[in-house]
Amino acid sequence: VITSGGDCSGLNAALRAITFAAIAKGWDVWGIHNGSNGLIVRPMEYEHLTLASFEFPFATMGGTMLGTNNSNIMAHDNGRREKIDDKVVKERFKDGVAQLKLDALVVIGGDGSMPIIADLCKHAKIAMIGIPKTIDNDAPGTDLAIGFSTAREVVTDAMDKLDTTAASHHRVMLVEVMGRTAGHLALQSAITGFADAVLIPEIPYSYTNLVKHLRATQKKGRGHALVVIAEGIKRPNGEYSMANNGLNFNGVSQYFEQKLKADGFEVRANILGHIQRSGNPVAADRLLASAFGVHAIELLVKGKTNRVVVHQAGSVTDISLRESIKLGTTRVNPKGEIVRTAKALGIYVGEVK
Ligand code: F6P
Repeated sequence: VITSGGDCSGLNAALRAITFAAIAKGWDVWGIHNGSNGLIVRPMEYEHLTLASFEFPFATMGGTMLGTNNSNIMAHDNGRREKIDDKVVKERFKDGVAQLKLDALVVIGGDGSMPIIADLCKHAKIAMIGIPKTIDNDAPGTDLAIGFSTAREVVTDAMDKLDTTAASHHRVMLVEVMGRTAGHLALQSAITGFADAVLIPEIPYSYTNLVKHLRATQKKGRGHALVVIAEGIKRPNGEYSMANNGLNFNGVSQYFEQKLKADGFEVRANILGHIQRSGNPVAADRLLASAFGVHAIELLVKGKTNRVVVHQAGSVTDISLRESIKLGTTRVNPKGEIVRTAKALGIYVGEVK
Protein backbone atom coordinates (compact mmCIF):
# COMPACT_ATOMS: atom_id res chain seq x y z
CA VAL A 1 0.00 0.00 0.00
CA ILE A 2 1.14 3.52 -0.70
CA THR A 3 -0.18 7.00 0.06
CA SER A 4 0.59 9.43 -2.75
CA GLY A 5 0.07 13.11 -3.59
CA GLY A 6 -0.90 15.74 -1.01
CA ASP A 7 -1.70 14.36 2.43
CA CYS A 8 -5.02 14.82 4.24
CA SER A 9 -6.71 13.53 7.37
CA GLY A 10 -7.98 9.96 7.28
CA LEU A 11 -5.04 8.36 5.46
CA ASN A 12 -3.86 6.49 8.55
CA ALA A 13 -7.40 5.25 9.16
CA ALA A 14 -7.39 3.86 5.59
CA LEU A 15 -3.98 2.22 6.15
CA ARG A 16 -5.33 0.64 9.32
CA ALA A 17 -8.40 -0.72 7.52
CA ILE A 18 -6.35 -2.15 4.65
CA THR A 19 -3.88 -3.76 7.06
CA PHE A 20 -6.52 -5.24 9.38
CA ALA A 21 -8.72 -6.54 6.54
CA ALA A 22 -5.76 -8.06 4.67
CA ILE A 23 -4.27 -9.68 7.77
CA ALA A 24 -7.71 -11.18 8.48
CA LYS A 25 -7.32 -12.94 5.10
CA GLY A 26 -3.88 -14.20 6.09
CA TRP A 27 -2.04 -11.80 3.77
CA ASP A 28 1.13 -9.79 4.32
CA VAL A 29 0.98 -6.02 3.97
CA TRP A 30 3.92 -3.81 3.05
CA GLY A 31 3.69 -0.07 3.53
CA ILE A 32 5.82 1.73 0.95
CA HIS A 33 7.31 4.98 2.22
CA ASN A 34 6.91 8.38 0.58
CA GLY A 35 4.49 7.43 -2.18
CA SER A 36 5.99 5.51 -5.09
CA ASN A 37 9.35 6.92 -4.07
CA GLY A 38 9.92 4.13 -1.55
CA LEU A 39 10.08 1.65 -4.45
CA ILE A 40 12.31 3.92 -6.51
CA VAL A 41 15.14 4.88 -4.16
CA ARG A 42 17.91 2.42 -3.35
CA PRO A 43 17.91 1.00 -0.77
CA MET A 44 14.11 0.87 -0.96
CA GLU A 45 12.07 2.36 1.88
CA TYR A 46 9.15 0.37 3.23
CA GLU A 47 7.88 -1.41 6.32
CA HIS A 48 5.93 -4.52 7.19
CA LEU A 49 2.52 -3.36 8.43
CA THR A 50 1.03 -5.45 11.22
CA LEU A 51 -1.53 -4.91 13.98
CA ALA A 52 1.41 -3.72 16.09
CA SER A 53 2.03 -0.88 13.62
CA PHE A 54 -1.19 0.66 14.92
CA GLU A 55 -0.43 0.15 18.61
CA PHE A 56 -0.02 3.92 18.92
CA PRO A 57 -3.10 5.81 17.76
CA PHE A 58 -1.79 6.82 14.34
CA ALA A 59 -5.19 6.05 12.85
CA THR A 60 -6.73 8.85 14.89
CA MET A 61 -4.18 11.36 13.57
CA GLY A 62 -3.84 13.45 10.44
CA GLY A 63 -0.99 13.04 7.95
CA THR A 64 0.27 9.71 6.71
CA MET A 65 2.46 7.42 8.79
CA LEU A 66 4.05 6.17 5.53
CA GLY A 67 4.96 9.61 4.20
CA THR A 68 3.96 10.74 0.73
CA ASN A 69 5.33 12.60 -2.26
CA ASN A 70 3.97 14.94 -4.88
CA SER A 71 4.24 13.38 -8.31
CA ASN A 72 6.71 15.93 -9.61
CA ILE A 73 9.13 15.62 -6.72
CA MET A 74 11.25 12.54 -6.11
CA ALA A 75 14.03 12.04 -3.64
CA HIS A 76 17.25 10.73 -5.18
CA ASP A 77 19.18 7.99 -3.45
CA ASN A 78 21.29 10.73 -1.88
CA GLY A 79 18.18 12.42 -0.43
CA ARG A 80 18.16 15.42 -2.83
CA ARG A 81 14.58 16.30 -3.70
CA GLU A 82 14.09 17.03 -7.38
CA LYS A 83 12.56 15.35 -10.42
CA ILE A 84 14.35 12.23 -11.61
CA ASP A 85 14.29 10.86 -15.11
CA ASP A 86 10.98 9.12 -16.00
CA LYS A 87 12.74 6.08 -17.49
CA VAL A 88 14.77 5.53 -14.31
CA VAL A 89 11.57 5.89 -12.25
CA LYS A 90 9.75 3.25 -14.34
CA GLU A 91 12.55 0.70 -14.26
CA ARG A 92 13.28 1.15 -10.55
CA PHE A 93 9.57 0.87 -9.73
CA LYS A 94 9.30 -2.38 -11.68
CA ASP A 95 12.40 -3.75 -10.04
CA GLY A 96 11.10 -2.71 -6.59
CA VAL A 97 7.80 -4.51 -7.14
CA ALA A 98 9.70 -7.66 -8.18
CA GLN A 99 12.16 -7.48 -5.28
CA LEU A 100 9.35 -7.21 -2.71
CA LYS A 101 7.37 -9.91 -4.58
CA LEU A 102 4.22 -7.75 -4.44
CA ASP A 103 1.02 -9.28 -5.81
CA ALA A 104 -1.00 -6.06 -5.82
CA LEU A 105 -0.67 -2.42 -4.95
CA VAL A 106 -3.34 -0.41 -3.15
CA VAL A 107 -2.80 3.26 -3.98
CA ILE A 108 -4.43 5.92 -1.83
CA GLY A 109 -4.16 8.98 -4.04
CA GLY A 110 -5.82 11.93 -5.74
CA ASP A 111 -6.60 12.70 -9.36
CA GLY A 112 -3.06 14.00 -9.87
CA SER A 113 -0.99 11.09 -8.60
CA MET A 114 -3.38 8.20 -9.43
CA PRO A 115 -2.89 8.21 -13.25
CA ILE A 116 0.89 8.50 -12.82
CA ILE A 117 1.06 5.49 -10.51
CA ALA A 118 -1.41 3.60 -12.70
CA ASP A 119 1.09 4.02 -15.51
CA LEU A 120 3.94 2.74 -13.35
CA CYS A 121 1.83 -0.27 -12.28
CA LYS A 122 1.01 -1.07 -15.91
CA HIS A 123 4.71 -1.02 -16.76
CA ALA A 124 5.51 -3.21 -13.73
CA LYS A 125 2.57 -5.51 -14.62
CA ILE A 126 1.18 -5.31 -11.10
CA ALA A 127 -2.52 -5.25 -10.24
CA MET A 128 -3.69 -1.98 -8.73
CA ILE A 129 -6.63 -0.80 -6.63
CA GLY A 130 -7.12 2.93 -6.16
CA ILE A 131 -8.65 4.69 -3.16
CA PRO A 132 -9.53 8.39 -3.59
CA LYS A 133 -8.33 10.96 -1.08
CA THR A 134 -8.23 14.72 -1.36
CA ILE A 135 -9.46 17.72 0.59
CA ASP A 136 -10.45 19.16 -2.80
CA ASN A 137 -13.12 16.42 -3.18
CA ASP A 138 -12.58 16.51 -6.92
CA ALA A 139 -11.53 12.87 -7.41
CA PRO A 140 -13.26 11.20 -10.38
CA GLY A 141 -16.45 9.16 -10.02
CA THR A 142 -16.88 9.60 -6.28
CA ASP A 143 -19.04 12.02 -4.38
CA LEU A 144 -16.71 11.80 -1.38
CA ALA A 145 -12.95 11.42 -1.02
CA ILE A 146 -11.01 10.74 2.19
CA GLY A 147 -9.98 14.00 3.88
CA PHE A 148 -12.74 16.23 2.58
CA SER A 149 -15.04 16.02 5.62
CA THR A 150 -12.21 16.88 8.01
CA ALA A 151 -11.05 19.80 5.86
CA ARG A 152 -14.62 21.13 5.75
CA GLU A 153 -14.70 20.90 9.54
CA VAL A 154 -11.40 22.79 9.80
CA VAL A 155 -12.65 25.57 7.50
CA THR A 156 -15.99 25.77 9.32
CA ASP A 157 -14.21 26.03 12.65
CA ALA A 158 -11.89 28.76 11.30
CA MET A 159 -14.91 30.66 10.00
CA ASP A 160 -16.65 30.46 13.38
CA LYS A 161 -13.53 31.99 14.91
CA LEU A 162 -13.20 34.68 12.26
CA ASP A 163 -16.89 35.51 12.60
CA THR A 164 -16.62 36.81 16.17
CA THR A 165 -13.67 39.07 15.47
CA ALA A 166 -15.29 40.27 12.24
CA ALA A 167 -18.49 41.07 14.15
CA SER A 168 -16.61 42.91 16.90
CA HIS A 169 -14.77 45.12 14.38
CA HIS A 170 -17.57 45.40 11.79
CA ARG A 171 -15.20 44.01 9.18
CA VAL A 172 -15.37 42.01 6.01
CA MET A 173 -13.35 38.84 6.56
CA LEU A 174 -12.05 37.11 3.46
CA VAL A 175 -11.36 33.41 3.92
CA GLU A 176 -9.15 31.85 1.22
CA VAL A 177 -9.81 28.14 0.97
CA MET A 178 -7.83 25.43 -0.87
CA GLY A 179 -9.26 23.23 -3.61
CA ARG A 180 -7.22 24.06 -6.72
CA THR A 181 -9.66 24.36 -9.65
CA ALA A 182 -12.57 22.79 -7.74
CA GLY A 183 -14.84 24.80 -5.44
CA HIS A 184 -16.37 21.99 -3.33
CA LEU A 185 -14.51 22.88 -0.13
CA ALA A 186 -15.16 26.62 -0.49
CA LEU A 187 -18.82 26.24 -1.41
CA GLN A 188 -19.77 23.71 1.26
CA SER A 189 -17.82 25.60 3.93
CA ALA A 190 -19.58 28.81 2.93
CA ILE A 191 -22.86 27.11 3.85
CA THR A 192 -21.63 25.43 7.04
CA GLY A 193 -19.68 28.53 8.16
CA PHE A 194 -22.64 30.85 7.45
CA ALA A 195 -20.89 33.05 4.90
CA ASP A 196 -22.35 36.03 3.05
CA ALA A 197 -20.62 35.32 -0.24
CA VAL A 198 -18.48 32.67 -1.90
CA LEU A 199 -16.45 32.80 -5.10
CA ILE A 200 -15.57 29.47 -6.75
CA PRO A 201 -13.77 28.58 -9.98
CA GLU A 202 -16.84 26.94 -11.55
CA ILE A 203 -19.04 30.05 -11.45
CA PRO A 204 -18.08 33.42 -12.96
CA TYR A 205 -18.47 36.36 -10.61
CA SER A 206 -18.96 40.10 -10.95
CA TYR A 207 -16.89 42.19 -8.55
CA THR A 208 -19.48 44.98 -8.85
CA ASN A 209 -22.28 42.60 -7.84
CA LEU A 210 -20.23 41.24 -4.94
CA VAL A 211 -19.82 44.80 -3.63
CA LYS A 212 -23.54 45.49 -4.19
CA HIS A 213 -24.37 42.34 -2.23
CA LEU A 214 -22.11 43.32 0.68
CA ARG A 215 -23.59 46.83 0.79
CA ALA A 216 -27.15 45.48 0.64
CA THR A 217 -26.35 43.12 3.52
CA GLN A 218 -24.98 46.07 5.52
CA LYS A 219 -28.17 48.03 4.83
CA LYS A 220 -30.25 45.14 6.16
CA GLY A 221 -28.45 45.56 9.49
CA ARG A 222 -25.60 43.06 9.33
CA GLY A 223 -22.48 44.93 10.36
CA HIS A 224 -19.89 42.43 9.20
CA ALA A 225 -19.43 39.82 6.49
CA LEU A 226 -17.67 36.55 5.79
CA VAL A 227 -16.59 35.99 2.20
CA VAL A 228 -15.15 32.62 1.20
CA ILE A 229 -12.77 32.76 -1.74
CA ALA A 230 -11.62 29.56 -3.42
CA GLU A 231 -7.89 29.77 -4.08
CA GLY A 232 -8.39 28.74 -7.72
CA ILE A 233 -10.56 31.64 -8.92
CA LYS A 234 -9.15 34.08 -11.41
CA ARG A 235 -8.78 37.78 -10.73
CA PRO A 236 -11.04 40.01 -12.88
CA ASN A 237 -8.15 40.36 -15.37
CA GLY A 238 -8.24 36.60 -15.96
CA GLU A 239 -5.05 35.80 -14.06
CA TYR A 240 -4.56 33.32 -11.23
CA SER A 241 -2.71 34.22 -8.03
CA MET A 242 0.10 31.71 -7.78
CA ALA A 243 3.03 30.94 -5.49
CA ASN A 244 5.88 28.43 -5.42
CA ASN A 245 7.00 29.17 -9.00
CA GLY A 246 3.51 28.79 -10.38
CA LEU A 247 2.96 25.36 -8.81
CA ASN A 248 0.42 26.42 -6.17
CA PHE A 249 -2.59 28.68 -6.05
CA ASN A 250 -2.14 31.27 -3.33
CA GLY A 251 -3.02 34.84 -2.49
CA VAL A 252 -6.11 35.77 -4.49
CA SER A 253 -7.83 36.90 -1.26
CA GLN A 254 -5.08 39.51 -0.78
CA TYR A 255 -5.93 40.93 -4.17
CA PHE A 256 -9.60 41.29 -3.10
CA GLU A 257 -8.51 42.75 0.23
CA GLN A 258 -6.82 45.66 -1.56
CA LYS A 259 -9.72 46.13 -3.94
CA LEU A 260 -12.40 46.14 -1.22
CA LYS A 261 -10.27 48.45 0.92
CA ALA A 262 -10.08 50.90 -1.98
CA ASP A 263 -13.89 50.70 -2.14
CA GLY A 264 -14.20 51.76 1.48
CA PHE A 265 -14.58 48.45 3.30
CA GLU A 266 -12.76 47.59 6.50
CA VAL A 267 -11.40 44.24 5.36
CA ARG A 268 -8.88 41.52 6.28
CA ALA A 269 -7.69 38.57 4.20
CA ASN A 270 -7.01 35.17 5.78
CA ILE A 271 -5.29 32.41 3.82
CA LEU A 272 -6.12 29.23 5.74
CA GLY A 273 -3.36 27.21 4.05
CA HIS A 274 -2.19 23.76 5.05
CA ILE A 275 -4.11 23.54 8.32
CA GLN A 276 -6.93 22.42 6.00
CA ARG A 277 -4.98 19.23 5.35
CA SER A 278 -4.51 18.51 9.02
CA GLY A 279 -6.14 17.68 12.34
CA ASN A 280 -7.55 14.43 13.66
CA PRO A 281 -9.89 12.92 11.07
CA VAL A 282 -13.56 13.49 11.90
CA ALA A 283 -15.76 10.40 12.33
CA ALA A 284 -17.13 10.73 8.77
CA ASP A 285 -13.60 10.43 7.36
CA ARG A 286 -12.74 7.50 9.65
CA LEU A 287 -15.86 5.70 8.48
CA LEU A 288 -15.20 6.43 4.80
CA ALA A 289 -11.52 5.47 5.09
CA SER A 290 -12.45 2.22 6.87
CA ALA A 291 -15.11 1.31 4.32
CA PHE A 292 -12.83 2.18 1.38
CA GLY A 293 -9.95 0.14 2.84
CA VAL A 294 -12.14 -2.91 3.44
CA HIS A 295 -13.70 -2.63 -0.04
CA ALA A 296 -10.24 -2.50 -1.62
CA ILE A 297 -9.27 -5.78 0.06
CA GLU A 298 -12.63 -7.37 -0.84
CA LEU A 299 -11.98 -6.53 -4.49
CA LEU A 300 -8.58 -8.23 -4.33
CA VAL A 301 -10.12 -11.26 -2.60
CA LYS A 302 -12.56 -11.54 -5.53
CA GLY A 303 -9.64 -11.27 -7.95
CA LYS A 304 -10.86 -7.91 -9.24
CA THR A 305 -8.04 -5.53 -10.12
CA ASN A 306 -7.46 -2.18 -11.78
CA ARG A 307 -10.51 -0.78 -10.01
CA VAL A 308 -10.99 2.42 -8.04
CA VAL A 309 -13.12 2.38 -4.89
CA VAL A 310 -15.73 5.16 -4.90
CA HIS A 311 -18.65 6.50 -2.88
CA GLN A 312 -21.82 6.98 -4.89
CA ALA A 313 -25.32 7.78 -3.63
CA GLY A 314 -24.62 6.66 -0.08
CA SER A 315 -22.81 3.41 -0.90
CA VAL A 316 -19.25 2.27 -1.38
CA THR A 317 -18.71 0.68 -4.78
CA ASP A 318 -16.01 0.70 -7.47
CA ILE A 319 -15.34 1.78 -11.04
CA SER A 320 -12.64 0.75 -13.49
CA LEU A 321 -9.30 2.53 -13.30
CA ARG A 322 -9.64 3.39 -16.98
CA GLU A 323 -13.04 5.00 -16.43
CA SER A 324 -11.73 6.91 -13.43
CA ILE A 325 -8.82 8.35 -15.41
CA LYS A 326 -11.16 9.21 -18.30
CA LEU A 327 -13.61 11.01 -16.00
CA GLY A 328 -10.91 13.37 -14.65
CA THR A 329 -11.50 16.10 -12.08
CA THR A 330 -15.01 16.41 -10.59
CA ARG A 331 -16.08 20.04 -10.35
CA VAL A 332 -19.04 21.76 -8.69
CA ASN A 333 -22.21 21.61 -10.73
CA PRO A 334 -23.40 25.25 -10.93
CA LYS A 335 -26.97 23.95 -11.27
CA GLY A 336 -26.63 21.40 -8.46
CA GLU A 337 -28.41 21.33 -5.12
CA ILE A 338 -25.49 22.69 -3.11
CA VAL A 339 -25.31 25.85 -5.22
CA ARG A 340 -29.12 26.13 -5.01
CA THR A 341 -28.96 25.77 -1.22
CA ALA A 342 -26.34 28.52 -0.94
CA LYS A 343 -28.37 30.83 -3.17
CA ALA A 344 -31.57 30.20 -1.23
CA LEU A 345 -29.72 31.19 1.95
CA GLY A 346 -28.91 34.56 0.39
CA ILE A 347 -25.23 33.78 -0.17
CA TYR A 348 -23.74 35.51 -3.23
CA VAL A 349 -22.36 32.58 -5.27
CA GLY A 350 -21.42 34.48 -8.41
CA GLU A 351 -23.36 35.03 -11.60
CA VAL A 352 -25.35 31.82 -11.65
CA LYS A 353 -28.72 31.86 -13.38
O1 F6P B 1 -4.77 19.02 -3.78
C1 F6P B 1 -4.70 19.25 -2.42
C2 F6P B 1 -4.12 20.60 -2.12
O2 F6P B 1 -4.13 20.81 -0.72
C3 F6P B 1 -4.77 21.77 -2.83
O3 F6P B 1 -6.00 22.14 -2.27
C4 F6P B 1 -3.69 22.82 -2.73
O4 F6P B 1 -3.81 23.79 -3.75
C5 F6P B 1 -2.44 22.00 -2.91
O5 F6P B 1 -2.77 20.67 -2.56
C6 F6P B 1 -1.26 22.45 -2.10
O6 F6P B 1 -0.20 21.65 -2.46
P1 F6P B 1 1.20 21.59 -1.71
O7 F6P B 1 1.09 20.53 -0.68
O8 F6P B 1 2.15 21.21 -2.80
O9 F6P B 1 1.49 22.93 -1.12
